[in-house]
Amino acid sequence: MATNTLSYQIPHIIQPIQPTHLRLPSILQRIGDTPLLPLHHLAADLPPAVKVFVKAEWFNPGGSVKDRPALRMIEQAILRGDLRPGMTIIDATSGNTGIGYALVGAALGFPVTLVMPESVSEERKRIARAYGAEVILAPASKGVDGAIRFVHDRVARHPDRYYHPDQYNNPDNWLAHFHSTGPEIWRQTAGRITHFVTAIGTTGTFMGVGRYLKERNPDVQLISVEPVDAANSIEGVKHMATSIVPGIFDPGLKDDEVRVTKAQAVAMARRLAREEGLFVGFSAGAAVHSALQVARGLDEGVVVTVLADGGMKYVSVWE
Ligand SMILES: Cc1ncc(COP(=O)(O)O)c(C=O)c1O
Repeated sequence: MATNTLSYQIPHIIQPIQPTHLRLPSILQRIGDTPLLPLHHLAADLPPAVKVFVKAEWFNPGGSVKDRPALRMIEQAILRGDLRPGMTIIDATSGNTGIGYALVGAALGFPVTLVMPESVSEERKRIARAYGAEVILAPASKGVDGAIRFVHDRVARHPDRYYHPDQYNNPDNWLAHFHSTGPEIWRQTAGRITHFVTAIGTTGTFMGVGRYLKERNPDVQLISVEPVDAANSIEGVKHMATSIVPGIFDPGLKDDEVRVTKAQAVAMARRLAREEGLFVGFSAGAAVHSALQVARGLDEGVVVTVLADGGMKYVSVWE
């Protein structure tokens, strides 16, 4: 019988839920504990006392950082009794969270229905279907909002049949990072991190890692990364001023922010592949572009950023 090696320590700000974790199938125990890698060539022009590290999140079994919140949201829903045998996990997602749900649902024996705009890349639909998820395509003209409305209608009509994790408003999204990504970064830098830079979508990574690091050292600077405007869309990253702001987001946690263009994100993703051997997605390009910008302004420091996913899902749009 597999035992759960994830340790969910309950900090003082969290109300304990008993018990705090399930026994997980082995593949789900492999979520988290990703490598933290130094940048070499791309950081060569920085002062010697400034280091930049990247968290390689495509090492998660579903290929992205979103395996972490997908697992925690589903696990905690089971423990609360909100997700029961026979129910289906449903959500509107065009990306990595959907793949995370599909992976976790398959491993735990829950059917998964993902509602995506029909414009979503072929790779994403096929990966989700490969895990056995049902993919429902909503009209591209209605975008992700159309997919969200579809899910709300479906759940309202059949509340006992579906569990809707709702990652934008679910505290278990950021708590996944508070309990795993944050402590890993603290441990992997031996507490020497000075700046945490991350692209924001649902804001779960920023909020969870940020809150953890501030608890350990209030001087750690938290820097969010967004596109310069809505036209510069980068998969997984939100331009907050023109988006529905996630319920879990507290902008007051942010010490600073960096804005990037799509061209800068794409150019850096290409350089990461060719100059560092890191084949990653475009949000990772945006994150590293921003982390290097922050690092260039320092005389000394340890800057950490997150490479949310790998480049494999982007091959059809890479060239
Ligand atoms: C590729 C990619 N980058 C960045 C993010 C942002 O992470 P978060 O939702 O934790 O803010 C996501 C989230 O889905 C993503 O898929």
